[in-house]
Amino acid sequence: MNYTTDDIHNKVKKLLYGLTGITLADNKDIMISNRIEKLKRDSKFKGDIMELLQLIEEGSYVTDFINSFTTNKTHFFREDFHFLDLKNRAIPELVKSGNNISMYCSASSTGEEPYSMAMTLLETQEELGKRLNASIIATDIDTNVLQYAANGVYRYSKSSKEFPSWIKPPKYFKKRVQKNLSGEEILIKVKDELKKMISFQVMNLNDSSYPFSKNQFDIVFCRNVLIYFSSEDQNKILKKLFSHLKIGGTLYLGHSENPQDLVNYVKRVGQNIFIKEKEIF
Ligand SMILES: C[S@@+](CC[C@H](N)C(=O)[O-])C[C@H]1O[C@@H](n2cnc3c(N)ncnc32)[C@H](O)[C@@H]1O
Repeated sequence: MNYTTDDIHNKVKKLLYGLTGITLADNKDIMISNRIEKLKRDSKFKGDIMELLQLIEEGSYVTDFINSFTTNKTHFFREDFHFLDLKNRAIPELVKSGNNISMYCSASSTGEEPYSMAMTLLETQEELGKRLNASIIATDIDTNVLQYAANGVYRYSKSSKEFPSWIKPPKYFKKRVQKNLSGEEILIKVKDELKKMISFQVMNLNDSSYPFSKNQFDIVFCRNVLIYFSSEDQNKILKKLFSHLKIGGTLYLGHSENPQDLVNYVKRVGQNIFIKEKEIF
């Protein structure tokens, strides 16, 4: 065993960057140790950690390794002003054009974000009194969260403020009370009407190209994921996403993210809300 903890941390960072583009800062070393130890335990790997990392480098345990190092924090209607903008501005404008509405959620985690997009679509449809033809593609690199999202069952706390006043959860979820050792918990299950609006797919934002056509989407959500990438890689991802957004389409970014080099090609219409004005040539 001829290596140091630093060697392990550096190897994890190098592997993770190569596979996902995620950059782990130096202050994440404790997290790295905890997560790689957990991966070793969960996969019942008998050798030492450097051997496990060597196998990952050779192509084994790759999905488990990626899933171990993603951060999946999310909730329904996170940064709710984006959903208000969808309901009050973006969707009504798209409805006027009469075309199908094509939406993309590029880091969907456990599904709360794309389901919030779908609920917003249905609410807007009701407000406008017009049937909308809309579809949502939701992708993530983490296969565990995608499975969770497709299953669509969430813990619900009465005290949680996850849903804005204009959403009535019983309209979109079936409620089930489950008894467990610590008492009772309320589970909510996404109704089929909402589920069938979304297609969940695995996709790595770090891939050199994405499986979509040019100008495919009217709406792109890319929130709270760019923060895991270097500034150079954020630019690369944003430019790829931008090529799939229509002119006049809307890009929503997370609260601490910015459009980087796209700044000269977009018009800002709200808090981290950008309309595509022209293509990048
Ligand atoms: C913090 S969550 C954000 C979820 C949601 N967008 C939100 O704002 O609540 C970040 C998500 O980005 C995903 N992710 C990280 N690196 C990725 C990559 N290279 N390609 C695709 N998704 C990635 C993670 O798996 C995780 O689910």
